[in-house]
Amino acid sequence: MASNGGNLAQKNQVVVVLIPFSAQGHLNQLLHLSNIISSHNIPVHYVSTVTHIRQATLRHHDSISNIHFHAFDVPTFVSPSPDPESDFPSHLIPSFEASMHLRDPVRKLLLSLSSEAKRVIVIHDSAMASVAQDATNIPNVENYTFHITCAFSVYVHYWNRIGRPSVEAMNALKVPSLEGCFPTQFLDFLTTQREFLKFSDGFIYNTSRVIDGDYIELMEAVTDGKEIWALGPFNPLAVEKKDSKERHSCMEWLDKQEPNSVIYVSFGTTTTLKVEQIQQIAIGLEQSKQKFIWVLRDADKGDIFDENEAKRLDLPNGFEERVEGKGLIVRDWAPQLEILSHPSTGGFMSHCGWNSCLESITMGVPIATWPMHSDQPSNAALITEVLKVGLVVKDWSQRKALVTASDVENGVRRLMQTKEGDEMRERAAWLKNVIHMSTVVGGVSRVEMDSFIAHITK
Ligand SMILES: *[C@@H]1O[C@H](CO)[C@@H](O)[C@H](O)[C@H]1NC(C)=O
Ligand SMILES: *[C@@H]1O[C@H](CO)[C@@H](O)[C@H](O)[C@H]1NC(C)=O
Repeated sequence: MASNGGNLAQKNQVVVVLIPFSAQGHLNQLLHLSNIISSHNIPVHYVSTVTHIRQATLRHHDSISNIHFHAFDVPTFVSPSPDPESDFPSHLIPSFEASMHLRDPVRKLLLSLSSEAKRVIVIHDSAMASVAQDATNIPNVENYTFHITCAFSVYVHYWNRIGRPSVEAMNALKVPSLEGCFPTQFLDFLTTQREFLKFSDGFIYNTSRVIDGDYIELMEAVTDGKEIWALGPFNPLAVEKKDSKERHSCMEWLDKQEPNSVIYVSFGTTTTLKVEQIQQIAIGLEQSKQKFIWVLRDADKGDIFDENEAKRLDLPNGFEERVEGKGLIVRDWAPQLEILSHPSTGGFMSHCGWNSCLESITMGVPIATWPMHSDQPSNAALITEVLKVGLVVKDWSQRKALVTASDVENGVRRLMQTKEGDEMRERAAWLKNVIHMSTVVGGVSRVEMDSFIAHITK
């Protein structure tokens, strides 16, 4: 799959090099962006470690045949099992550190591309700035920073650093503390990356002006006149119906349920819940008497191809039999976007990773928020406080406490069965519509994407 050397770029062509961070949500977003850029007939090079190229391509379902993948070797890293005692996926840190060794192969790739191409556009994840740093010394290379989260969350972090001054767009909000979002070891890593960001020629966010436009403007005010593009969401706005043999079995089950009657429960790829917490969720879901699909998986390891099989997470005795017909447990890879787009799905209990938030709001599904780490607490605040398309299940100020079965039950009931929940669903449907309109010709998101493409190919 690696394509090193040879004719990488044609003379006088602009080429784009994407450097994702090595965690699933990040790999996936830059792969989507690769597809979009490549659809404008611009050659795209996607760079990562051997393991993470394999992971990204395995889990991506659109055609990616036009993309040049560069899978580089890095020193072997340990890939421990996730630690249920830690909310932050610290078990991934060795793989993050190993990916810092991409700097040298990236420099060589950029040198080789820049000798052929008219211009090389580097788009690197904000957490990969140090890997991209050698772009500085190559004349026809431009570099852009890609933030994998919303402008609101980036602004919240900035606003904290400057001491939470009074700002109109923040005043009425309950903004979560950043305490507990990152362990010190990872904060140091991010601080190092931030030093390189000042060199960026521009910033890209996977968000939209119709979602958090006020906060994009606040960030624009503090980036020294450098441009910001909000290039998302561009996920397929309607999910194509697959042949029944290709569909996941949970989709057939969804077909048989009433509209808006099912809550989808998933906490993403980076966290493993404690045994007691899993038990409380199970009891809460059962007591809520609502229909549900619950994705119950161990978190990804740094190397998802590592031999040891992920452990099977236990449920209370007899649970699966008792909820038969009411609830479905999915232990493999769930087709999240397809589930969210299904008319029977009326709510999402989520850790509020940005991918999940975007997928949910573009499908018009309100969220019961349960943030775990990183940008998730502030993403959750965007959902509940700013957009008002969700409610709190796990309150960040109580982050160390177990969420009890009755908290789960109440959260699910409020979202699925009350007038308050219906109003959130209506607002979510309205927002979905606004987002969809923004992506058609003439809409703000489309204009922004066209302006970015014009900017890099100028
Ligand atoms: C990014 O590109 C600009 C010139 O376009 C350069 O001045 C800057 O040093 C580069 N920074 C990095 C981190 O590559
Ligand atoms: C932004 O994130 C969404 C949700 O994961 C994804 O579908 C979309 O393609 C991403 N956009 C870009 C430009 O990466």
